[in-house]
Amino acid sequence: MKIAFFDSGIGGLSVLNDAYKALPNESYIYFADTDNVPYGIKSNDDIRELVFDAVNFLAQFQLKALVLACNTATSVVIKQLREQFDFPIIGMEPAVKPATANTTKKVLVCATERTLQEGKLDFLINNLNASERVEKCSLQDLVLYAENFDFHSPDILVYLNEIFGKIDWDNFDSIVLGCTHFIFFKPLFEEILPSHISILDGNLGTVNRLSSLIAPNLSNDQKSPTKFYQSKREVPYIYFDHYIRYLNEI
Ligand code: DGL
Repeated sequence: MKIAFFDSGIGGLSVLNDAYKALPNESYIYFADTDNVPYGIKSNDDIRELVFDAVNFLAQFQLKALVLACNTATSVVIKQLREQFDFPIIGMEPAVKPATANTTKKVLVCATERTLQEGKLDFLINNLNASERVEKCSLQDLVLYAENFDFHSPDILVYLNEIFGKIDWDNFDSIVLGCTHFIFFKPLFEEILPSHISILDGNLGTVNRLSSLIAPNLSNDQKSPTKFYQSKREVPYIYFDHYIRYLNEI
């Protein structure tokens, strides 16, 4: 049995790469909906239809679990997926809880436009009584830069400086990366943000949840190489390998 990872594109590779380390004997499938990325500017109905289509495709494999390695898809559709499919489905949660836990300063949650508009994020923030301390910021354009394997060009610097230049960082002490594509820009964030700002993401939380869910069912089989799909077309691992190598360098 395999563990499937789904994302609109390459962002979920950052979660898959953490799963490789935590659960090295498992076999994986990675599905990037390359034909339809970015999701963050789409309507809920469109996202729901695309994710259901992909998960129906993935369900033909014997799945031990599905990881929705996409904050946007998690925000819009995880509840309905869990009602429809009987394998465990693990989603992403922006790391607002750890970010707000040990500080009274503000937290900047960066995500796609859709994630920021969805009630799931507000629910999380309100549950933590943190609505006064959390500000939201769309970094939607980073998704397509990441799809083009561009993590450091002058255009990106202009884009980020324009957005971050308006923020009074003295009032903040962390940013939360609420989109899996943004993980690839961590070195750039570290370079341009003031040194007192911590950068948090939800990847480890998701992988820990996956590990505990499949703990009774760990693989003893011969591990098979990861199968990669771009919108239902199987592709060789070299389509994604440079991203994994990049993640291991940063
Ligand atoms: N990687 C995704 C996320 O975590 C989606 C980005 C997009 O397709 O807009 O939200």
